Amino acid sequence: MNTISISRRRFAQLLGAGAACAVVKPAFSLAVEPAARSTITSVVRLSANENPYGPSPKALKAMNDAFDLSCRYPDEHNDLLIDALAKINGVNRDQILLGDGSGEILNLCAETFTGPTASNKKGRGTLVVADPTFEAIVNNASVNGAEVVKVPLTRSFSHDLPKMAAAAKEGLVYVCNPNNPTASITPKNELREFIAKTPRQTMILVDEAYYHYADSPDYESVIPLIKDYPNLIVARTFSKIYGMAGLRCGYSVAQRETIERMRPHQMWDSVNIMALAAATVSLNDPDQVANGKRLNSEAKTFVTGELDKMGYKQIPSQANFIMINVKRPVVPLIQAMKQRNVQVGRLFPALPNHMRVTIGKKTEMETFLSAFRQVMA
Ligand SMILES: Cc1ncc(COP(=O)(O)O)c(C=O)c1O
Repeated sequence: MNTISISRRRFAQLLGAGAACAVVKPAFSLAVEPAARSTITSVVRLSANENPYGPSPKALKAMNDAFDLSCRYPDEHNDLLIDALAKINGVNRDQILLGDGSGEILNLCAETFTGPTASNKKGRGTLVVADPTFEAIVNNASVNGAEVVKVPLTRSFSHDLPKMAAAAKEGLVYVCNPNNPTASITPKNELREFIAKTPRQTMILVDEAYYHYADSPDYESVIPLIKDYPNLIVARTFSKIYGMAGLRCGYSVAQRETIERMRPHQMWDSVNIMALAAATVSLNDPDQVANGKRLNSEAKTFVTGELDKMGYKQIPSQANFIMINVKRPVVPLIQAMKQRNVQVGRLFPALPNHMRVTIGKKTEMETFLSAFRQVMA
């Protein structure tokens, strides 16, 4: 038996399969115990804004190849991904910091700019966020004892940047664009103006987790602005369009000095070798982004058309999920959908009559619609 088959078998055993797997894709599906597998397939999971089409075939192969190197620390793989990201984003490699998912980047920003060592007079920064938005960073900052200011979204569900600017002190402003859970965008001109006006001692984190799904002419990434603003950080993830949510890989782009402030708060080698290998080759797969966008758009057009016919409006979506106005409290509906094996998003207290639904495959959206019709009847 050669070393490749030994390392694959060890991996499969660790996951509970107990058998070596020679082919790439089955290696992952066979590694799930039968009971768990049937649970996964019988439930339609539209609750976490994942990409149902999964990683690029190139990524699966790269992970398979990386099994053999699992005994090594991931330094070279780390460097390769940083090089690739620097090139794609038109920045130097010292302007990229990888994270164990972009969730780690959010946590690092909270820690660095609102935590006990944040460089302001009180030793704690303020975090300013929209309401509703992705709550992870709120939890990260609160646990550090930071003050959190929540500013309601505007009537068009964009960030109310003038109000956020007024609330901002030393610390951090978090702008999620497109925003989770509303799938709405904050227009590029407003965001540019906000970044230009914000005092340099206030850090701005723009979370672009859903960047690839946005196609509005009013939307743009702010990565090209980083060269002019030392207080600007952008977070990106491989969990969405690259279909790698379970692998955990994300990154931030900022000026070198800003990255150097964040780095000491991070655990060494926080991204594993498989995720690094998969992420690096995903960037070179021209089909991954194009197919992911197209399939998402087709399934979204289908489900939003059906909801329109039923009279349920949605916030216009620039992401891989939709926010539906269900015209009544959503909590019992979430439960009722779950009883029909369809998982939808959690309650967002600022929008208690809205249901967040991830765009899955078309067949999954058909199952969703069937359950939705039943629970709304
Ligand atoms: C806006 C936003 N940012 C960050 C994340 C975290 O993503 P990950 O840690 O998987 O990269 C999510 C996850 O859903 C998200 O919606």
